[in-house]
Amino acid sequence: MRQAGRYLPEYRRLRKSVGGFLELCYTPELAAEITLQPLKRFSMDAAILFSDILVVADALGVKVMFAEGSGPRLAPVSGAADVAALRPQGVHARLAPVYETVERVAGALPAGAALIGFAGAPWTVATYMVEGGASKDFAATKRWAFGDAEGFQRLIDVLIEATSEYLIEQARRGAEAVQIFDSWAGALPESSFERWSIAPTRAIVERFHAACPGVPVIGFPRGAGLKLRDYADAAGVDAVSLDSGVPAYWAARELQPDRAVQGNLDPVHLLAGGDAMRREICRVLDALGRGPFVFNLGHGVLPQTPLENVALLAETVRGWRP
Ligand code: CP3
Repeated sequence: MRQAGRYLPEYRRLRKSVGGFLELCYTPELAAEITLQPLKRFSMDAAILFSDILVVADALGVKVMFAEGSGPRLAPVSGAADVAALRPQGVHARLAPVYETVERVAGALPAGAALIGFAGAPWTVATYMVEGGASKDFAATKRWAFGDAEGFQRLIDVLIEATSEYLIEQARRGAEAVQIFDSWAGALPESSFERWSIAPTRAIVERFHAACPGVPVIGFPRGAGLKLRDYADAAGVDAVSLDSGVPAYWAARELQPDRAVQGNLDPVHLLAGGDAMRREICRVLDALGRGPFVFNLGHGVLPQTPLENVALLAETVRGWRP
């Protein structure tokens, strides 16, 4: 999950040696090394590509900046003229270094480990583009979507196209599964959830599956709550990633019979560690570990997380028996 790298001293060292965060994402040699860092330290079954969901906005020609400590800043996209100025034809050229990273990692993975590629869902990437960065209420994005659905759809369509191409190319270069992060799906009311979260994801998944049959897609509609069922049934994804608010027993009964699920330890349990964390890991595994399941957190690793807690997590998961 996002910012995962920041708890590792070896990541922070590399990060300091390069000017900007995006430069790190676009330097295949370093991005490949960062992708593999957690696997060198801990017993893990998969690596997640080192990149960011906002590289797609950057590749479309939006100015994106990551200032230390204050989160991403983007030149806001606020109407039809800004959408018309996006440059979908430039996407592959700008993202070529990410594809090279995928190729390098795929060739260097330890035996038995998998590489997971990813992208942001159109709704979530659109919120960053429209708000010009992070937001608490998503007022500008929602106002546009609610008041001028056709105009907003044009932005979403550009993102569907670019994101599909981006994920397909990741899989062609060696990603064995891909995850679509809809981190702000929870901001959408019921009446808009199908149009702006489910439908764009489904459009991407359909193209992806047509181009890369057999490569699983994991969807992460964070904060979807009771709308998770609709998402799982209609978005076309092969697995659903659960945030920490989803009751594991509910997911076992409602979602897992038809697809794999992933999740959902609270990242603060990983920060706090100890017996409480161990009990919590076993609670999740007892509920979900007998079906198709990927153990994961419910959101990103917090930068202050002690390394020994991550080691204890891996050991606890490995030691669990059904
Ligand atoms: O975490 C990893 O190392 C794996 C690669 C990864 C990153 N971002 C690297 C990153 C992944 C999978 C992401 C996904 C991502 N990025 C999401 C979806 C997951 C989620 O968290 O819900 C989102 C919403 C983003 C957007 C983003 N990127 C934000 C809001 C920030 C700023 C965070 C902050 O508080 O500064 C980033 C930066 C980012 N992306 C970092 C990393 C390692 C930190 C950059 C740094 O080193 O300063």
